Amino acid sequence: MRQRAALVTGSSRGIGRGVALALAEVGYSILVNYVANRDAAEEVAAKVEAKGQRAVICQANIASARDRQRLVETSIASFGRIDLLVNNAGVAPTRRVDLLEATEESFDRVLAANLKGPYFLTQLVARHMIAERHADDYSPKIVNISSVSAYASSPNRGEYCVAKAGISMMTSLYAHRLAEYGILVYELRPGIIETDMTAPVKQTYNRMIAQGLTPIRRWGTPDDVGKAVVAIASGLLPFSTGEVINVDGGFHLRRL
Ligand code: NAI
Repeated sequence: MRQRAALVTGSSRGIGRGVALALAEVGYSILVNYVANRDAAEEVAAKVEAKGQRAVICQANIASARDRQRLVETSIASFGRIDLLVNNAGVAPTRRVDLLEATEESFDRVLAANLKGPYFLTQLVARHMIAERHADDYSPKIVNISSVSAYASSPNRGEYCVAKAGISMMTSLYAHRLAEYGILVYELRPGIIETDMTAPVKQTYNRMIAQGLTPIRRWGTPDDVGKAVVAIASGLLPFSTGEVINVDGGFHLRRL
């Protein structure tokens, strides 16, 4: 069988790294995308190669149109085809600031990385997938990493919530538009996952988890998210698109 290739944005650390390693485990070549930390990207690439798969590293800021173009060109030049796009890269606001005080600068920064970037990267990759759709052994998929913040209101980081809610609609839009080409699109909603992003609020979440915030009383891990991506990538949800998969220890359950 032809080796499949995945483009995973922001895959030098955290959830993206976990997704890249989980996909390598099941035979995917990986495009490791990073912004600033090349050493970390090289470490992920070495781990992918240690699993017997190919890894190619590409520095690109997904908020930049030129960088997105280069990222897609590098992926296609390296692997021939993109079988799976995982829109994972994202940022938290640099400071949590109340909705009534938050700035346009922070809004623009967060929306550019967390919504505009994936929205237009998906457009580019979708055009490639449509052009290749008749190729042998090709069943392309797109996975968007959103967050429980797509529906849970946190007024001290409104811009993050708005961006993640946008990812939900983006998933519906692309799922709708691309179904006729056999391209399936999914949204993964992680809950509280232990990464550098959540490190600054570790004590707070430790306490909330211990008090029962999530029915499954532990932090999630990048590997938890990686396993969910593998489930999708393995093609076991062939009659589902636009689907939301919660990877949140049951955070989303209403309880009484
Ligand atoms: P992280 O901060 O550890 O890693 C994010 C990665 O994305 C970094 O490598 C960063 O350089 C990269 N990145 C950021 N902006 C980029 C850009 N413009 N272009 C290319 N790469 C960029 O964060 P983490 O926790 O691994 O988050 C990954 C995704 O999961 C994000 O979209 C985040 O919003 C989402 N998420 C995280 C949760 C958590 O609890 N950690 C929960 C729910 C969602």
